[in-house]
Amino acid sequence: MSKSNKKYIIANWKMYLSPDESVKAALAVQKKLRVARGVEVVIAPSALVLRELAAKLGKKNVKLAAQNIYWRDFGAFTGEISASEVHGLAEFTLVGHSERRYVFGEQNRDIKKKVAAALRSHLTPVLCIGETRDEKDFGETSEVLYDQILGGLSELAAEDIHKVVIAYEPVWAISGNGNARPCSVEDLTESVRLIRSHLNHLYGKKISENVSVLYGGSVKAENAGEFLAVDGVDGLLVGSASTKADEFLKIIEQA
Ligand code: PGA
Repeated sequence: MSKSNKKYIIANWKMYLSPDESVKAALAVQKKLRVARGVEVVIAPSALVLRELAAKLGKKNVKLAAQNIYWRDFGAFTGEISASEVHGLAEFTLVGHSERRYVFGEQNRDIKKKVAAALRSHLTPVLCIGETRDEKDFGETSEVLYDQILGGLSELAAEDIHKVVIAYEPVWAISGNGNARPCSVEDLTESVRLIRSHLNHLYGKKISENVSVLYGGSVKAENAGEFLAVDGVDGLLVGSASTKADEFLKIIEQA
């Protein structure tokens, strides 16, 4: 169960769109957007366009997110972008997306530092967690979620935990991974229950009810409504379907 009165609809554009296409799509979303009160629309575009979009979108109905950050604030770290550099351009950052974990080898020890760095720079971290197909088949979902929650949050002070948004993204449901398929409502209900029960065990009832938990993995306009209706789900993290402005707007409408 969730006591959050906010819904987040977050677009993760990965490396799908060119800088020009990203600016065009973001402005198209903003132009046609009619959001209900309490719905937070966020786009995580290529880092190359964060500055331009921050200027063009202003502080209105569409917020920005980085897709990834490094935990050091500055220094000799070729190719990295710090949370403090993102501060002022975006209000959110994804952390520990499964593509970061499984394509780029990020571990919980990296992820917990990134979560802490995001908060230090006043960004809201969207901590992505979720089991692989093998882990699910071996019945390890609960342990994996526990390890990733604890692994991601263990550098935070207790009073900061509620500032984190958690995105449950089962790796087997994320499009682009061969034969991905969306999570069933039953599986999602059970995983969100597990996440909130782990949060309760680790940090207490109040946190377990107040942390926002989102779902991501093959979300489209036609299935967004059923995921949003699942008890304890406070929003969606949408990949490929969010790159088309009209489809993304249809998804937002369901919130
Ligand atoms: P998808 O990606 O919606 O394309 O499955 C979701 C994500 O990876 O955040």
